[in-house]
Amino acid sequence: MKVLILGGSGQLARSIGPLVEEAVLASRSSDTKLDLTHTEVIYDRISKIDPDLIINASGMTGVDQCETNIREAYQVNALSVKEIARFCRDHKIRLIHFSTDYVFDGSEGGYREDSIPNPINYYGLSKLIGDTYALSYDESVIVRTSGVYGISRNFPILALEKLNKNEQVNAIKGYYSPIFVGLLARSSVELMHSERSGLLNIAGERITRRELAVRIAERFGLDKNLVREETEGLGLVAKRPFDSSLDSSLARRLISIDFYTSRANIDELYSYFNRK
Ligand SMILES: NC(=O)c1ccc[n+]([C@@H]2O[C@H](COP(=O)([O-])OP(=O)(O)OC[C@H]3O[C@@H](n4cnc5c(N)ncnc54)[C@H](OP(=O)(O)O)[C@@H]3O)[C@@H](O)[C@H]2O)c1
Repeated sequence: MKVLILGGSGQLARSIGPLVEEAVLASRSSDTKLDLTHTEVIYDRISKIDPDLIINASGMTGVDQCETNIREAYQVNALSVKEIARFCRDHKIRLIHFSTDYVFDGSEGGYREDSIPNPINYYGLSKLIGDTYALSYDESVIVRTSGVYGISRNFPILALEKLNKNEQVNAIKGYYSPIFVGLLARSSVELMHSERSGLLNIAGERITRRELAVRIAERFGLDKNLVREETEGLGLVAKRPFDSSLDSSLARRLISIDFYTSRANIDELYSYFNRK
């Protein structure tokens, strides 16, 4: 089965690629070039690749960047999904599409698949529009996830880098459901082989950034007292939801591996850094 993985140079696509027999990774900087801002060529470009299934792990994921460049965010996170879903519908192939906890406003947390989205920034809004295009096709799975970490230099990795240098870590207040990218990749491939369709949350347990950094420090044998919590994210352009945690109980019943506990996720992170 030929699987086209969009967002090919991203951390999630690169983690899924080796788990799939015949993977074609495409993005602007992959060997197979595809620029999703050119929505008019997407259908034809995908036709030439002729996949049996598409995994859409692409996205303009810089939350502040989306706020200041809404046109590109709309093209990549929303409009391109319309074309991808149209191709899948015409060719009767499944689509696995990735979405975000940032479609929620963060006032409650513990969001389930049937919770009402209410994005407070443009990243969340553009992803939500993309989700609706994907959801309009019955043979699609929309995986909502949160705080994916392992390869990209986002909070847990930056925290680890600072802890390693004995520097203070400032953790912005708030809750989310971070997941190690390798566990999200394995869960997604399991899902790919199932009959499931519709929305599904796959994310880690609800935790503060401070607590996550503390647990990382403990696992790596570093000084957890270097971790501080701060109220405001300095220099952030877009608003962030305070508690964007996701309820993944449905996926925990469907997926055989432990993708959920912070212990399992941090253990994987530990093995990943000790393999490198
Ligand atoms: N990271 C998180 O914490 C997080 C949380 C919740 C949900 N998600 C979702 O999970 C998915 C995977 O995230 P990730 O962390 O793997 O993202 P990532 O590392 O930032 O990768 C994003 C990918 O999208 C591609 N892309 C961006 N603009 C493009 C364009 N104009 N044309 C073609 N490709 C483009 C990038 O490739 P090029 O730049 O080479 O084109 C890159 O390969 C995304 O849908 C994201 O919204 C992520």
